[in-house]
Amino acid sequence: MSSNSFGTLFTVTTFGESHGPAIGCVIDGCPPGLPISVEEFRTDLDRRATGRSRYTSQRHEADDVEILSGVYEGRTTGTPIGLLIRNTDQRSKDYGDIAQTFRPGHADYTYWQKYGIRDPRGGGRSSARETTMRVAAGVIAKKWLAERYGVRIRGYLAQIGDIVASAFDWDAVEQNPFFWPDAGQVAELEAFINALRKSGDSVGARVNVVADGVPPGWGEPIYGKLDSDLASALMSINAVKGVEIGDGFAAVSQRGSQHRDEIRLDGFASNHAGGILGGISSGQPVTASMVLKPTSSILIPGQSVNTAGEVTEVVTKGRHDPCVGIRATPIAEAMMALVLIDHALRHRAQCGDVGIVEPRIP
Ligand SMILES: Cc1cc2nc3c(=O)[nH]c(=O)nc-3n(C[C@H](O)[C@H](O)[C@H](O)COP(=O)(O)O)c2cc1C
Repeated sequence: MSSNSFGTLFTVTTFGESHGPAIGCVIDGCPPGLPISVEEFRTDLDRRATGRSRYTSQRHEADDVEILSGVYEGRTTGTPIGLLIRNTDQRSKDYGDIAQTFRPGHADYTYWQKYGIRDPRGGGRSSARETTMRVAAGVIAKKWLAERYGVRIRGYLAQIGDIVASAFDWDAVEQNPFFWPDAGQVAELEAFINALRKSGDSVGARVNVVADGVPPGWGEPIYGKLDSDLASALMSINAVKGVEIGDGFAAVSQRGSQHRDEIRLDGFASNHAGGILGGISSGQPVTASMVLKPTSSILIPGQSVNTAGEVTEVVTKGRHDPCVGIRATPIAEAMMALVLIDHALRHRAQCGDVGIVEPRIP
C-alpha cells in the first residue's frame, strides 16, 4: 500500500491499523530547534479523541504519544521525528460478525477489490483512527507556524444536518463538545443527537477551518496551488465528500462585482476568495469548509453481500459516532496546518530572499 506520506518538505508518513498494537508517524523535514514536549500533544488529541462526550463513539483511547526520535532535550533536532500511540481499546469482537461482510458506505469492498485481503478489525487502515497521527503531526506544525509567523488555525462545526450555526463566537467553540460557535444552540444539538442515536441513524456535518496570520506568498502557482493542496488534504480525511475554499460553491450565484475582493491600501474589502489568489496566499485569512457524510455504521439494517458472494443484511452494533463531523474539527485544523507549514518551507526555500515587497496590503 503506497501513498501513506503527505507533504513535500515537511513530510508526514503514518502507519498502523485501528486494532493493531499501535499507530504512529514519521515526520521528516521539521525545522530544528522547536521546543516540543509530550504534554503539548494532549490538548489536540483529547479534542479529537473518542469518548470525549456522550455525543460521540464510546470507545476510550488513551492516546498517549511517545516521542521515539528527532527530539533532544525538549527541542526538535531536524532529524526524523517518530511518534507512536499504542492502541488500548481494541474490542475486535465488536467487528467479528462483519469480517466476511462488505459494510455499505465503508472501504471494505474497495480494499477487497484492490488488495484481495483486508484487516477487518475496526476498519483496519481505513479507520479514522489513522487521523490521530495527523492531529499529532499537526500539533508540531501549528506550533512552528504560530511561533515563526504568528499563524493561528482554528476550526468549528458550522452545520449538523439541517441545523446551521445562527451566531458566531470563537470563545463558544471550545466550551461545548460539538465545537459549535453558538452557545445558545447547544441544548438543541444535544436533543437532536440524542434523538438521532435513539433512531439508530446518523447525519452529516460541515466543518469550517480558518488560518489567521498567513503572510502573502505561500503556495505555488500551478500544480502546488495552496487551494488545491488544501482541498486534497481536507478531502483525504475519512468521510469527507466535499471541500470549499472561500465562498466555494456559493460563487455559482454570485456576480463578479460581488465576488472579487476589491483591494484598498488599508486592506481587502472582502474575502470571498478565502485568502488565496492564483494558488498563492494573499495575506487574508485562509478559509476552507468541508462536508462529512453521515456515519455509515448504523443500527438500521442495510443490504449488502459477503465475501462468498451471498446476499446479506448489515446492522452495525459496535461503538460508532452518530455524526462523525463532531470529532472532525481538530483533524481539519491539523490538515490545514500540515499544508501551511509545507508551503511556508517551500516558499522560504525558493523565495526567502525576496523579502517584503511594497505595497503590502495589511
Ligand atoms: C473522526 C472520524 C470518526 C469516524 N468514525 C466512524 C464511525 O464510528 N463509524 C463509521 O461508520 N464511520 C466513521 N468514520 C468514517 C469512516 O472512517 C469512513 O466513512 C470510511 O472509512 C470510508 O471512507 P470514506 O467515507 O472516506 O469513503 C469516521 C470518520 C472520522 C473523520
